[in-house]
Amino acid sequence: MMNLETVKVDQKDRVAVITLNRPEKRNAMSPQLHLDMVEVLETLRDKPDINVVVITGAGKAFCAGMDLNEFFMKNRDDNVMFEKAYRAAVEWRGRTLRYYPKVTLAMINGDCFGGAFSIVEGCDLAVAADDARLGLSEINFKIFPGGSVSKSLANLLRPRDALFYGLTGRPFDGKEAARMGLINYSVPGSELEGHVMDLAAEIATKDGMALRATKEGYRMSLEMSWEASMDYTLAKQDQLTLRQQGAWQDQGIGDFLDKKYKPGLSSYDG
Ligand code: ACO
Repeated sequence: MMNLETVKVDQKDRVAVITLNRPEKRNAMSPQLHLDMVEVLETLRDKPDINVVVITGAGKAFCAGMDLNEFFMKNRDDNVMFEKAYRAAVEWRGRTLRYYPKVTLAMINGDCFGGAFSIVEGCDLAVAADDARLGLSEINFKIFPGGSVSKSLANLLRPRDALFYGLTGRPFDGKEAARMGLINYSVPGSELEGHVMDLAAEIATKDGMALRATKEGYRMSLEMSWEASMDYTLAKQDQLTLRQQGAWQDQGIGDFLDKKYKPGLSSYDG
């Protein structure tokens, strides 16, 4: 569907799969990869036939974090180039993914270090291989989880887990990532792709505008007072009604009242 220098995109039905595609460098994030991700996400943003975006890595790694050579060393003496790459790096993982109008799902197929935690946290859902290797390796090379990573840890993890792994730099596996809530759950590596694509396909059959409202309602409410959230979600309901032309009432509730299905047990499929 799309092939950029460091990223490729495939589409199956209403699911797009973005693959970080630098397997020889364990999909480490170079400045070019950040620019490519910005471009890909902006292109997919407007596609009405896509409801779910899966992000994964080519080869045996998910993403080995920032490209320590190309991101930190090559631009060491060039502030303009460094800040251009830095801004792209924090924007697509920290802001674009968080408020993306599609459901986002990280498929952690292997190594996942440092800056890759912000991809995982930026996505709505995450599933890993049981034996994936994850770690906050920054402390191991005399730095700390900078950029968007500290905020990602603060958003998602309990203080004990964030500080334990931030301070020790110890690697851990997919099962431990699930225990601490960094991901939803892990599955055997051989089952990962099939499992994640089934999950993505299941979500992708839902109404795209309702999916978007679900994540926006949640994410915006995190930042609001109770009063503001009540007002926001009431306005959001009106927005959804307008955008769907009343489908949640006419079809969603209508078919229930006509005894065609039970929404508590299955999805509207009219
Ligand atoms: N930046 C740049 N190059 C990298 C990175 C990285 N983050 N990770 C791996 N590579 C490169 C290696 O230099 C090597 O390149 P070469 O073949 O040209 O010499 C190639 O990818 C393969 O790496 P290996 O180390 O041989 O692969 P292996 O599978 O044995 O180990 C691992 C993978 C564990 C990920 C290891 O490469 C590693 O520790 N990488 C650094 C991880 C890290 O600390 N990332 C930074 C996090 S902090 C942040 O994001 C700000």
